[in-house]
Amino acid sequence: MNELEEALKQALRCTRCRLSEARTNVVFGDGDLKASVMLIGEAPGFNEDREGRPFVGQAGKFLNEKLLKAAGLERSSVYVTNVVKCRPPGNREPADDEIEACFPYLSVQIRSIRPRVIVTLGNVATNTLFRKFNIKPASMGSIHGKVFNVNTLSYGSFKLIPSYHPATALYNPGVSEAMVEDWLQIGMVVKSFK
Ligand code: URA
Repeated sequence: MNELEEALKQALRCTRCRLSEARTNVVFGDGDLKASVMLIGEAPGFNEDREGRPFVGQAGKFLNEKLLKAAGLERSSVYVTNVVKCRPPGNREPADDEIEACFPYLSVQIRSIRPRVIVTLGNVATNTLFRKFNIKPASMGSIHGKVFNVNTLSYGSFKLIPSYHPATALYNPGVSEAMVEDWLQIGMVVKSFK
């Protein structure tokens, strides 16, 4: 069993934090294990908890049909996961200790898949990755769509691109244009690797 399979096996019976108490399913992540692009969201919501797969609700539909399409990408050719793998009750934001307890799983996912580009979806994912990779925190308004080059020994080198959470477009249609612009830019960065 490789490191990623081992992490999945552990996650499926994980009780490292209180989020395990109310979950229906662990939402580990899915997609192409050889993907050059990894998307990291915040946490599973109601539909994801029920199905055990990330971004299968309304935000996922917008992600698949609008944002990935703008970048010239298919959902099946990227890898999608979240900062925490279990749904926070009532869809509250995951707490810092929950994010820390779950980080070893994300760490294995990044190390195993070794994406060339990581897109963080929303503030929680962006702040978590910025903290882990020692990038100075900043507001989403000033950093969305920008490319941060990360070079590490354990995770290799990748480009980190923060963007708005796809759900933002559902309650604030005004930002959907900026989001599509970000994804056109993401598409160009990805093409530069091909
Ligand atoms: N929002 C997220 O951040 N992740 C999901 O998987 C679904 C909604």
